[in-house]
Amino acid sequence: MTTPALDPDLLDKVINLAKRRGFIFPSAEIYGGFRSTYDYGPLGVNMLRNVKQAWWRSMVQLRDDIVGIDAAILGPPAVWAASGHLETFTDPLVDCRRCKERWREDKIDGVCPNCGGTEFTEARAFNLMFKTQAGPVEGEGATAYLRPETAQGMFTNFMNVLTTTRRKPPFGIAQVGKSFRNEITPQNFVFRTREFEQMEMEYFVPPADADGWYRYWISTRYEWYTNLGIPANRLRLHEHAKEDLSHYSRGTTDVEFLYPWGWDELEGIANRGDYDLTQHSKASGVRLEYFDQQAGERYTPYVIEPAAGATRAMMAFLLAAYEEDTVEGETRTVLRLDWRLSPYKVAVLPLSKKPELEGVSREVLSALQPWYMCDYDGTQSIGRRYRRQDESGTPYCVTVDFDSLEDRAVTVRDRDTTAQTRVPIEGLVEDLRRRMTVA
Ligand code: GAP
Repeated sequence: MTTPALDPDLLDKVINLAKRRGFIFPSAEIYGGFRSTYDYGPLGVNMLRNVKQAWWRSMVQLRDDIVGIDAAILGPPAVWAASGHLETFTDPLVDCRRCKERWREDKIDGVCPNCGGTEFTEARAFNLMFKTQAGPVEGEGATAYLRPETAQGMFTNFMNVLTTTRRKPPFGIAQVGKSFRNEITPQNFVFRTREFEQMEMEYFVPPADADGWYRYWISTRYEWYTNLGIPANRLRLHEHAKEDLSHYSRGTTDVEFLYPWGWDELEGIANRGDYDLTQHSKASGVRLEYFDQQAGERYTPYVIEPAAGATRAMMAFLLAAYEEDTVEGETRTVLRLDWRLSPYKVAVLPLSKKPELEGVSREVLSALQPWYMCDYDGTQSIGRRYRRQDESGTPYCVTVDFDSLEDRAVTVRDRDTTAQTRVPIEGLVEDLRRRMTVA
């Protein structure tokens, strides 16, 4: 497959669009922003929810072998000692001797990106976890950490889930939520931030079946992205070399996306073996095993983990959907998002501000709102409003005009083809349902 050439300005264009339309704003912007943190605006919050909902639907709703949990973000040091994060979740940090800037040694190839200097301090291990205290008294007993991944909550709840749901391997526990890492070099918009959202699933399997499930989850997760509209020529799989594996991994394959700066990680699928359950068993003294009654044997399941980023996936969907084309001799920007991810599915647009159109337009809006996230826009020319919705990725615009008062019909405009169809108000919900169905 040939690698497509991307617009060199794509990243800037998407960052600008995200701000202009209300997807993503720099956080605390009125104070000059805050260290690569971002806020999700009215469109962004809808889209991010849709990304997480699409993941939850495919991982939990449509399956009978995976259940969800929502574990605490704050955790005691014992969890992170057992998981290996206290000791090994570090990046090698160096300071440039000339300009004093601080860098991740493994990312700079021996040359300071700031001043070109080549002399650095000795590398020291910098732990990426955010440390805080729980309760009003400072001291060792009060130390807590913000989770750097959602995964550990699934391992510490392994027995709770096993006994309350009566599952047996192969079965999975899924979780979506915020994670925090004190990244040395957050970069590229929301690709790498210090506060981000993950979508992780731990799939517990008999050890002998681990490799088969590892392959299964690699292809299942790859297909999730293509099914939601990322072109296959902007995705690839990258298997890590043995020497690059994380401390817990027996094998890791990344789903990589072609970002404007090149191929980079979108999601990682790892075979974690029995590392986590064994570590937590040893440290807590609680046996984390499965007793197979039929075979009469007790074993520690292996774990296959597809670990995705919700915020990073949203960014990839935005980058992949961004297009500029020509409509009626004018360049337009359009986000060709899969409708499941679009912040608004439908925009109701009264052709003019005349009061007689307002009544029927509001009636149409009320009929659609129980079914679809809708926008309502009565300002400016209809052409500009279509452009605004195209930029927001809204798949359908419903225009109410003066004829609507007579024929009780509206015009449905398709974002991608710009084709317009007259549809009776009575059958509008049904018409839209036919256009937006899950394949
Ligand atoms: N439990 C395994 C784990 O957390 P990871 O590769 O460190 O593995 C999984 O993280 C995914 O989480 C990544 O593929 C990425 O999508 C997302 N992610 C990790 N660090 C991130 C960061 N600093 N900012 C945004 N997303 C991040």
